[in-house]
Amino acid sequence: MTQLHEPKQDNFFQSWTIYRKIVAANNMFHEQIYADVKQLLQQQTDDFSLLDLGCGDAACLAPVLRDVAINAYTGVDLSAPALALAAENLSALSCPIQLELNDLLSFMQQQQHQYDVIFSSFALHHLSHALKAQFFQAARQSLATHGVLLLIDTFREPNEALPNYLSAYCKWINNDWIGVSAEEKALACQHIIDNDIPETLADTEQLAEQAGFAQCQEISNYRWHKVLLLSN
Ligand SMILES: C[S@@+](CC[C@H](N)C(=O)[O-])C[C@H]1O[C@@H](n2cnc3c(N)ncnc32)[C@H](O)[C@@H]1O
Repeated sequence: MTQLHEPKQDNFFQSWTIYRKIVAANNMFHEQIYADVKQLLQQQTDDFSLLDLGCGDAACLAPVLRDVAINAYTGVDLSAPALALAAENLSALSCPIQLELNDLLSFMQQQQHQYDVIFSSFALHHLSHALKAQFFQAARQSLATHGVLLLIDTFREPNEALPNYLSAYCKWINNDWIGVSAEEKALACQHIIDNDIPETLADTEQLAEQAGFAQCQEISNYRWHKVLLLSN
């Protein structure tokens, strides 16, 4: 598939080493978040197909998927090294696996398939406000009738301006993150300052409502990191 959108150049995820260390040290609450995800996916009563947008190496989702009723997995990401790792991490699943090197929005807008679960973890904050609006519209169109959108991302606090968020998040990285060197923390902060555009929860709910989602439920919250469940 071709890319309808030209995503901003970002080399941080082309080498997966630093992000892997961040996740291994649980700096972004992946352990708690993916325990929540497992609980939610185990509540799906029927077999389900899952589209993972910005799947990265799928290292946290792959073990969860071994214990749920998934019947097909599709992962989309812009990082070829991450997708190579995803292929390894997902190899124990018995369902069909499709991995696409593509922009997540281009992928959704070009394909006709409908999924029971659309999942996206820490990728949406890379899109501008206007592209997030397109994301919710495309996600709604790509969902099966009783499908759900499971969204994990960073969110600004109510009334927290973007520069204040960026400076508070980087201060937190420098003071509290473990398992990464000072140089790696500096690279992570630079990546965040250059690329991250998280919304507030209220703005996200508004974008989702405008796209036609009837419900947007906050499942859990770990500092700026939230798990949301959206449905029609
Ligand atoms: C912070 S990592 C998250 C990886 C994994 N989902 C997780 O939760 O650990 C963000 C991922 O989103 C991917 N990404 C960012 N913007 C994207 C876009 N427009 N289209 C597809 N992938 C994107 C990056 O390449 C990276 O693998």
